[in-house]
Amino acid sequence: MKKLMVTGGLGFIGSYFVDMALKAGYYVINVDKKTYAARDDVDFHNRKHYEFIEADIRTMTHIPPGVDVLVNFAAESHVDNSIHANQEFYDSNIGGVYNLLELIRAKDETDQPLLLHISTDEVYGTAHEGSFTEEDKLLPSNPYSATKAAAEQLIFGWRHTHEIKAVICRSCNNYGFGQYPEKLLAKTIEFLLKGKKMTVHGDGTYRREWIYAEDNCEAILTVLEKGKEGEVYNISSNEEHSVIEAVKMIVEEMGIKEEDALVHIPNRPGQDLRYSVDTAKVRALGWGPKTSLREYIPIYIKLYKKYLGL
Ligand SMILES: NC(=O)c1ccc[n+]([C@@H]2O[C@H](COP(=O)([O-])OP(=O)(O)OC[C@H]3O[C@@H](n4cnc5c(N)ncnc54)[C@H](O)[C@@H]3O)[C@@H](O)[C@H]2O)c1
Repeated sequence: MKKLMVTGGLGFIGSYFVDMALKAGYYVINVDKKTYAARDDVDFHNRKHYEFIEADIRTMTHIPPGVDVLVNFAAESHVDNSIHANQEFYDSNIGGVYNLLELIRAKDETDQPLLLHISTDEVYGTAHEGSFTEEDKLLPSNPYSATKAAAEQLIFGWRHTHEIKAVICRSCNNYGFGQYPEKLLAKTIEFLLKGKKMTVHGDGTYRREWIYAEDNCEAILTVLEKGKEGEVYNISSNEEHSVIEAVKMIVEEMGIKEEDALVHIPNRPGQDLRYSVDTAKVRALGWGPKTSLREYIPIYIKLYKKYLGL
């Protein structure tokens, strides 16, 4: 049985991944600091082949023996927060990865896990046209994406010099039940269900690619099982919508008039106009997305209503 150490496994995407990895027959050691973003509605404790360690990846002192792959989801993940208070982003997203690399390096060569690091399409910055391939340069535009790009650079350097084994996944915007309601779609559903108006930065015309977290985790598992060490894999459904289009899908599904649902606020500084990544490489491993945003929205609203007891 392969042993995984998953960091940030109580977070939004990490929790989908832990569930999927356990179902796929992996042994999972979940390491999470339980920040505000950790889910309060998941509990894997009754699952077989599961251990939990409450720890900060920045200050963790060792990696248990026999870990085959360390999947690093742990990070501060909300761009807005990174604009107002960035110390935690620096500590977890850069310092945390530095510590993991050093912990791997400190181990006997025969017991060093592969580092499968979860990064983001935001590291490329705005895609004015076409889609970025894994060979394109990193040009992050906000403090969050800068810390994610910096972490990648550390990994490249440690791999080259210290022969740390690593793979990087860069995924687009994830959606799905369990996302902390500071992020766009979760916040929209929660606000509208509670009768509040949702705030949209600027005119909302900036474009993103959207992936269901479960599809993303299937892609990550595919990379883990079939990907090549030392490679970077973009992950996206390539389903592109502007922020306002995505929000309006929810407004329409709930049958609320737009003027009663949305309020525009000044755009956030550093806003990228468009993200888009080429996914030929991960699709060549046999992966493809199964869910579309439009199909998921009614399910999402239903699950959220149940969660709020409405
Ligand atoms: N959400 C997205 O759309 C998206 C898109 C692309 C990439 N990513 C990346 O995927 C990863 C997971 O994102 P998410 O949306 O699930 O995040 P999240 O904020 O929902 O969850 C992060 C989890 O990591 C934990 N954590 C944070 N700092 C930690 C630390 N120092 N030590 C241990 N645990 C820590 C938190 O307690 C939380 O459980 C992140 O690395 C993020 O950059 C997210």
